[in-house]
Amino acid sequence: MEKRFITTPIYYVNDVPHIGHAYTTIIADMMARLYRLQGHETYFLTGTDEHGQKIEEAAKSRGFSPKEYADEVSGKFKALWDEFEISYDHFIRTTDEYHIKTAQNAFDIMYKNDDIYKGEYEGFYCVSCETFFPESQLIDGEYCPDCGKQTRLIKEESYFFRLSKYQDKLLKWYEDEEKCILPKGKKNEVVSFVKGGLKDLSITRTSFEWGIKLPESLNEPKHVMYVWLDALINYLSALGYTRDEKNMDFWNNAMHIVGKDILRFHAVYWPAFLMSLNLPLPKHVAAHGWWTRDGKKMSKSIGNVVNPKEVADTYGLEQFRYFLLREVPFGQDGDFSQKAFINRINSELCNDLGNLLNRIIGMSSKYSNYEINSKDVLKYFTDEIETANALCKNALLASDEVATNRYLEELWKVLNLANASIAKYEPWNLIKDGEKDKALALVAMVSNLLAKVAVLLSPAMPKSADKIAKALSFDVNTNLYNKLIKDGGIIDFMAVATEPLFAKVEVPSLENVVEVKKEEKKVEVINIDEFKKCVIKVGTILECENIEGSDKLLKFQIDLGEEKPRQIISGIAKFYNPSELVGKQVCVLANLKPAKIFKHLSEGMILSAEDGKLTLLSTLSKVQNGAIVG
Ligand code: MSP
Repeated sequence: MEKRFITTPIYYVNDVPHIGHAYTTIIADMMARLYRLQGHETYFLTGTDEHGQKIEEAAKSRGFSPKEYADEVSGKFKALWDEFEISYDHFIRTTDEYHIKTAQNAFDIMYKNDDIYKGEYEGFYCVSCETFFPESQLIDGEYCPDCGKQTRLIKEESYFFRLSKYQDKLLKWYEDEEKCILPKGKKNEVVSFVKGGLKDLSITRTSFEWGIKLPESLNEPKHVMYVWLDALINYLSALGYTRDEKNMDFWNNAMHIVGKDILRFHAVYWPAFLMSLNLPLPKHVAAHGWWTRDGKKMSKSIGNVVNPKEVADTYGLEQFRYFLLREVPFGQDGDFSQKAFINRINSELCNDLGNLLNRIIGMSSKYSNYEINSKDVLKYFTDEIETANALCKNALLASDEVATNRYLEELWKVLNLANASIAKYEPWNLIKDGEKDKALALVAMVSNLLAKVAVLLSPAMPKSADKIAKALSFDVNTNLYNKLIKDGGIIDFMAVATEPLFAKVEVPSLENVVEVKKEEKKVEVINIDEFKKCVIKVGTILECENIEGSDKLLKFQIDLGEEKPRQIISGIAKFYNPSELVGKQVCVLANLKPAKIFKHLSEGMILSAEDGKLTLLSTLSKVQNGAIVG
């Protein structure tokens, strides 16, 4: 048996937990429970990411000190995970003293290994993503390509990590370790990003204070560590790195579960830091997709956040776990919809699973006084048992790739086989026809199929698996896993009359699942002269095309009644196809300072309105190109 380390990202404390956080955590919880079930000694780490400019500013705007604010929000994450019975072994906070010490030790080692040098950073920074961007990647010359918020131009003294030095080593790692990044499609994206060239990474900041100080030996009181360096090191601090090293043997088999938005930090920067520290690299970095609402990213500022506690309180935690793990193929985005959720509860949980248990209990009570111990299972039903064993093996193969949806799909194939066998062999007729031994063997075969499912379902739905186990008088544990799953064996049962596992849901009962609170935008009053500084013109789109290498940007040629058309780059590719825009009139901010976006000159900004979706602004009737809006 192995030691295994599984982690969630540590969550920023500027935001309360939402469905995206719950998703990452529940996937990691399922994997940790599966490993334990298989007998591996497992260390499951989660926690909160509490330093950085974003937290400092969030705390300030609410009148708290950063630490007070972090204490409050970190407590909310921990309380939710406890309520959800997440089986973490340790909850780390980056403000914990031992983490601060480890981060400083790690910085010191990287510095001594000549991977860190002093310089000056000049460029753009997105505080919301805590990420540096070169100008060429910004949208409309100033907006973050990841979250769309305005970036800041910063120029400050900074220490740099020699990331460029690790480009070839990283490429070799991706090539040698087939499953180092999951799923495959995401790995390809990382490989092409690294092949595109790596620049050294700024890893300290001097323009704010809320961060870990550099090691004292450097004597740099103005600098704090870049929050991503601080945050990534949490995975080592928790194991005692450079301190007691007590749990460092878990590090040899590490799996990080992350969202696709933070894959680059985990699949590029983090392994490079680890190489600099001369430590083994993670076995897997597995990136899941995003939950959206009406196709839009969920965030507090958009006001479309799904509150996981409300969903779990209304529909049940087990049902919620099932839906999150089953609904979306791992790595892809998914849309949260109550309708889809209710369908799955009614058809898959109530019918396929819950009813099967009821039928087994009913049949065993009628035919054999609740005893299920036929010795003829393999005489009549070898095929069914073998098929179920093969499906369970498929489920485990899917779990190797964290494909939680495929894992559950395979288990449901076993349930379908069980239900179909009852329909096919009609035990009530077997009894009538004097074939009682076959009827009893059928009940025992079907019970074994359900027990195999219950064992493998336990990491995803621990409480439901336990209820099934109680109803058939067995315990879900590693011994039983070995017997039913690893060895493909069968066992006897004693059924117990039990309440239905799940209740059907008739109507959606979560009208307020979506918090439609819009964060208030500060409105500054301006006078008419200030408004007149903006020259907004109407123009016709002559040409529109996608920009290679960007799934966000479109390139326009727009006739604004001037000598020649204007070229404008706009980040709206997700909302429109280029062909549907040609010939349309739009409003353009015409005196915006030209900027280069993705190496293309952009001479203005096309105006649009957003309410969850995006639509371009136009006039009620056609006007001459160049007409002024005012
Ligand atoms: N603090 C960093 C992680 C540092 S790890 C060394 C961070 N925190 S976060 O709170 O912003 O996000 C944590 C995780 O939540 C990420 O994996 C992210 O993908 C996930 N989600 C946040 N919103 C999400 C959705 N709407 N959908 C799915 N998951 C998303 O990043």
